[in-house]
Amino acid sequence: MQILSVSSLKGGVGKTSVTMGLASAALHQGVRTLVVDLDPHADSTTGLAVTRGTGTEAGQLLRDAKRADLNDHVVRSGWVDLLPKEHRAQATLDVVVGSALSAAFDRPDIRPRDMRRLRLLLDRVTGYDLVLIDCPPSLAGLTRIGWAASSGVLLVAEPSLFSVAGTERTMRAIRMFSNEYAPQLKSAGVVVNRARADSTEHEYRLLEMERLYKDKLMLPVLEENPFWQQIQGAAYPVHQWPGDQVRDLAKSFDQLLTQLA
Ligand SMILES: Nc1ncnc2c1ncn2[C@@H]1O[C@H](COP(=O)(O)OP(=O)(O)OP(=O)(O)O)[C@@H](O)[C@H]1O
Ligand SMILES: [Mg+2]
Repeated sequence: MQILSVSSLKGGVGKTSVTMGLASAALHQGVRTLVVDLDPHADSTTGLAVTRGTGTEAGQLLRDAKRADLNDHVVRSGWVDLLPKEHRAQATLDVVVGSALSAAFDRPDIRPRDMRRLRLLLDRVTGYDLVLIDCPPSLAGLTRIGWAASSGVLLVAEPSLFSVAGTERTMRAIRMFSNEYAPQLKSAGVVVNRARADSTEHEYRLLEMERLYKDKLMLPVLEENPFWQQIQGAAYPVHQWPGDQVRDLAKSFDQLLTQLA
């Protein structure tokens, strides 16, 4: 089972979108996946079409980490119901639902034993090939909880000056965290999101990122797509969206997922 945190120190760069895109690709490819929504805003829970009030919230599960059996508390994503009938029975896409409750763990001075709570829960979970952890945009307690449970961190960055600087800081933070608490943790790669082919600034930043991150820079780069918000608003998997407008985006997520395997 591969466990990946999707992180960035900067907000709004596309962590949730990348989590959603990879989850959609995984569903499409038959990879049994669990999405852990660690963000108190619970955007991925909404995006994955989870029925409100079902499952046990991440914050509650973190509290009960020693006793709780995660398999009893996850919820099936509503995306599975959108699959053709004959594929539904074999498909696995589950969610540990997010809520404001988990914010209680988002302290900058979180204790090491609290940091291991998600790891404890995931150590006992069965039936998944891939776990994607959608982290909040900070390096406080919740992201540390995600990292301590993960084998890799997938960094999301936009091709802009501040995002490049933020990614550098996050990479340093991963190295320090890995030395101190989580020797298994590596940066799995940098996903570039919202690139625009017509922007010279983006082109310049992409070259800079290639130079800085070398083989850690994941290709293809994800393009800015005007339909993305609409898809997320409809709580739809990008691979099931009708029409051609997002077919390339769906293919990009397929390619990224293949490289993560
Ligand atoms: N490639 C893209 N093209 C167009 N819009 C995008 C793209 N990626 C993300 N967005 C939009 O940008 C906004 C922020 O994206 P998202 O919520 O995924 O970021 P985030 O990093 O998870 O944010 P937060 O830090 O608040 O958790 C959303 O409205 C999303 O629909
Ligand atoms: Mg988010």
